Amino acid sequence: MTADSILVEARALIDARRYRPALRLLRGDAFPHGLANGLANGLERLHLLGLAHLGHRDAPAAIACLRRVLAHRPDDPDLLSALAQAHQADNAPFPAVRWFERAARVTPGDATLTASLAGALRRDARYGDALTLARTAIRGGDTSPDIRYEAAMAAAYLGEDAESLAHFDALLADDPEHAAAWFGSHAQALHHHGPEEALRRLRRATRCGGANGKYWGYLAATLRLLGRDAEAEAVEDAEIGDNPKRRPLPDGAKALLPKLSADFRLFGNSGRLLRHALACAATSGLVLEFGVRRGTSLNHIADVAEQEVHGFDSFEGLPEGWVNSPRGVLTTGSQLPPVRDNARLHVGWFEDSLPPFLAAHPGPVRFVNVDSDIYASARTVLTALADRVRPGTVIVFDEYIGNRSWRDDEYRAFQEFAAENAVRYEYFAASPYTKQVAVRVLGIGT
Ligand SMILES: C[S@@+](CC[C@H](N)C(=O)[O-])C[C@H]1O[C@@H](n2cnc3c(N)ncnc32)[C@H](O)[C@@H]1O
Repeated sequence: MTADSILVEARALIDARRYRPALRLLRGDAFPHGLANGLANGLERLHLLGLAHLGHRDAPAAIACLRRVLAHRPDDPDLLSALAQAHQADNAPFPAVRWFERAARVTPGDATLTASLAGALRRDARYGDALTLARTAIRGGDTSPDIRYEAAMAAAYLGEDAESLAHFDALLADDPEHAAAWFGSHAQALHHHGPEEALRRLRRATRCGGANGKYWGYLAATLRLLGRDAEAEAVEDAEIGDNPKRRPLPDGAKALLPKLSADFRLFGNSGRLLRHALACAATSGLVLEFGVRRGTSLNHIADVAEQEVHGFDSFEGLPEGWVNSPRGVLTTGSQLPPVRDNARLHVGWFEDSLPPFLAAHPGPVRFVNVDSDIYASARTVLTALADRVRPGTVIVFDEYIGNRSWRDDEYRAFQEFAAENAVRYEYFAASPYTKQVAVRVLGIGT
């Protein structure tokens, strides 16, 4: 085989998503090396190798190949876009945004790139930028499912649930088999149309071709938290069984049941849950958030707190790996977000920033949002705040149920804290969709 024919065949394999044979072909001895083969062919081979590694889910190998080609083809939009996708697959939204932006500058107005950039901005928690980009594209006539999906998701994070639902519904009118849109819209529909419509949309998501069984756990958990036990059990028996991927959410929901409050409410939108939880925090005291990132939730909190609020973050991402993500994931590259006038940022690791803050700010805690994902961070926060917690203190956890490791994360940190400090508590709000749970402290100490 000549180098040219190998490259043509490898491209065809990649287009057919047959990445393993493409890798074998491109790496094999059949590919003629050396000068006679020419620089262009060598670069094309590296480019295709990068694409094949990307398809084969080896993002670091893809990045290594693609970056070598970039030096020779700095304005190749396909290359820039592949590099962005590789960083996205590597859980690094920060550089992904940068490369998508560069690709979009080379081919302005490319609808696919615009949707990819909006998606990268969303993954980097830059929801305002993602929504502005998607709104502009939609106003300019782009009505593709991808751009509508990005608009809907970004609007949901910003608490614009009516706008989010409108984008989802427009998308679903064009593409009624879009599983993720039925799923995303069920959470926003909960607030606008009530639980029956939310459940109808969630059931509809489970029946879409692309669902792959992903949503059964959400359905069982939602039914359970709505008190519809017989329906929840039927879904668990028929669709969940011992499946380790589907069990975490229904198991997490069941763990909440013994302590559900009389005023328990189900939510689908993160901002709505936070605003409700803060409104329920009637005692006076400090309002704190641990895990600020781009400031989305801190701004929701600041909007309704009617007092100064404090956000703590290293802005360097997680201090250790978590689930499938490496240490440092969720970094903002040490950039601080713009926040409301009544919000103060405290930069650093919690164990360093919290003790001096508490020394300077006496008094009880009214409200805490623990959104720092891992056990160790939640444990540090709860231990430091133990003697500031009072009956009436509200604590919201952002990753309490639903992840594969939920029993070892925030849930475990709070269970240990409650046992060590004789905390009596109840759960008064939860969202299977966002995995948030709100706790009301009823008593502490003997
Ligand atoms: C999920 S993000 C927070 C999301 C944010 N609340 C929002 O609304 O988008 C988690 C954040 O926790 C921070 N973090 C986790 N553990 C930390 C620790 N021990 N000290 C300081 N920051 C920490 C990370 O830097 C990251 O920005």
